[in-house]
Parts: sequence; C-alpha cells; structure tokens
Amino acid sequence: MEGKNAKKRIAVLVSGGGTNLQALIDAQAKGTLKSGELVLVISNKEGAYALKRAENAGIPTLVITKKGAGGAEQFEDAVREVLTERKIDLIVLAGFMAILSENFTKVFQNRIVNVHPSLIPSFCGKGFYGLKVHEAALEKGVKVTGATVHFVNEIPDGGKIIMQKAVSVRENDTPETLQKRVMRLAEWKILPASVEKVCADMLNEEEKRNERI
Ligand code: GAR
Repeated sequence: MEGKNAKKRIAVLVSGGGTNLQALIDAQAKGTLKSGELVLVISNKEGAYALKRAENAGIPTLVITKKGAGGAEQFEDAVREVLTERKIDLIVLAGFMAILSENFTKVFQNRIVNVHPSLIPSFCGKGFYGLKVHEAALEKGVKVTGATVHFVNEIPDGGKIIMQKAVSVRENDTPETLQKRVMRLAEWKILPASVEKVCADMLNEEEKRNERI
C-alpha cells in the first residue's frame, strides 16, 4: 500500500542467529509492530540462521557479502542500491556485524537503527560487539548492564539513543548467561518497541506535512 498512512517499509540487516529479527517477526504477528512492515532481510553472511527465520516468516531475503561484492565500498553500494530500489523507509541493524561508512549512513540519516547489548556509552564503539561486550562488562565488574537502541550515524554506536533497558548482573554470570538475559529482558523488548515508535513517528510527521500542503 502506498500513499497516506501506508506502513513504513522495513529492511533488517543481519549477520548471525537472528533472535532480534525473530522478536520483530513476533511483534509483527502479534500486531504490536503495526506502523511498519518487514519487507526484506539482508545478510552479509552466507548461511546465517537469521535467513531461515525470515524464510519461515515469508519475508524475502538476500545475501550480499563484502567478498562477493568485491570490497567494502562495493558492498555498501550494492546494499544501498537494493534498499533504494525496494523503497525502504527504515533500516534495522539486528546483530549486523559490520560498521557502515559515513558514505552510507549520511544517505539514510535518521533512517537506520541499531540494537547494542550494553547501556551506551559503556562498552560500545569499534571492537565491542556480540559476546565481547558482555566479557568486557564482567571484566569491569559492573553491577548493571542492559541494551540500547539508537539511530546510526558515522560514529560507531554514536547516534541518538531511542530506548534503553537496564539488566542486573549476577554474581555467577558468564558472558553467555549475561548475553542471554540481556537479550531476553532487554533487546527483544526494546528493539520491536523502538521500531514501532520510529515508524509511528515517521507516519505522524508525514501526516503533519500533508496537512500543511
Ligand atoms: C545481539 O546481542 C546484538 O545486540 C549484538 O549481537 C547479538 C546478535 O544476536 N549486536 C552487536 O553487538 C552489534 N554491535 P542475534 O543475531 O540473535 O539478534
């Protein structure tokens, strides 16, 4: 559906297991994600389980790798081309393990969101991804950690924060147990909620603009 009040078209970029993608799929099925529609999943890793989750939900998938594209720049060009061609309004990085260059992020200002497994500005930026984030949090001895959803700009994990949720660290936590709890209690909740909020905000903005015309 195009035009007034059409749902925003969402593409999800993934690299791995895709539990955050699953949280988005489930939110769409439940109707809590209603201002946007998951229309495309792109993986930069062949065989990522996230692709299977997308297929099971009937969402079109694509695999675009740096190697296949012939380099980092060509990879970004190929992704950008697909996103433009498919009229994507919002790009969600859900366990996407590559840093996008300024060339890419400036084209989609305020239209890319990322989920990060810590309370930014702690344990974030270059080198902090996946389990490494939780290893660093335990090493430091923090008693509270959590997850953040933020807009993506040219600074890794540096864009404006949309939502955060805190999670307590337990005495006997390992990076793996902490990662699981942060996902279950924080990431899988705030990612779908943030995506719904950003899509709803986009629709409201459009409505206001249309009223002015
Ligand atoms: C999640 O914990 C996500 O926050 C993290 O990787 C995991 C992916 O899991 N992302 C980053 O560290 C990005 N900097 P998933 O594939 O099951 O969603």
